[in-house]
Amino acid sequence: MLINKYSKLNDIILERYNCMPVILRFGIQFGFGDKTVAEVCKQYDIDADFFTEIINIFIDKDYFPQTHLQEFSVKTIIDFLIKSHQDYRKNKIPHIEKLIDSLEWDSSETKKNKALIKNFFLQYKTEVIEHMDYEETIVYPYSIKMEKILNNEQTLSIKELRKYAINIYADTHDDIEEKLLDLKNILIKYLPPSSNLETEQMVLFEIFRLEKDLNNHSRIEEKVLIPKIKLIETELKQMI
Ligand SMILES: [Fe+2]
Ligand SMILES: [Fe+2]
Repeated sequence: MLINKYSKLNDIILERYNCMPVILRFGIQFGFGDKTVAEVCKQYDIDADFFTEIINIFIDKDYFPQTHLQEFSVKTIIDFLIKSHQDYRKNKIPHIEKLIDSLEWDSSETKKNKALIKNFFLQYKTEVIEHMDYEETIVYPYSIKMEKILNNEQTLSIKELRKYAINIYADTHDDIEEKLLDLKNILIKYLPPSSNLETEQMVLFEIFRLEKDLNNHSRIEEKVLIPKIKLIETELKQMI
């Protein structure tokens, strides 16, 4: 069942604990008592409608209100995307790295297996960081600028419009979560079981979680941000 603005935040977490990291990503801290989504959002100056839609996307994989999401400002959407990047950089990726580092194998294979997994993840991490850096330095600032020009908060420059187009991003934006499937396969299908299976299981759980999270993140970029900026670009071109 989807949540609404009048749902109690505490009940949401008790019933669907998987959305907890996303709630915390908005900067909300525990100790919210019996407050509703609307009340907590007001306290933290968060758009409650946007918050509700984002939580619902994470709760229900078949729910994606593309048109409604496109109605929120570019700034609101990008603020959330950046907060997600920060969470991947500071928490999610280092956590998986630490877990991988504590994996052990009984035999002499230990070093070899560990190096294989570590190198694979390190390569993956480098790619994800490059991906996020590009978005944070080129795509997101460009998108914010397009919205500002549309709102008359910045002047329209033809040169600026010709310098970059969201299609460049749309054509090259890749699914950073896809490679995680290879990592899961290495652990599940090919490597001998580690001697600390509990940790190995935790590594897999965290990879599954990150994969789902990144998948939702990419959906917002591709189905909300890109089409929204395309519309803005069309509008601005008509103004020239
Ligand atoms: Fe991103
Ligand atoms: Fe992306």
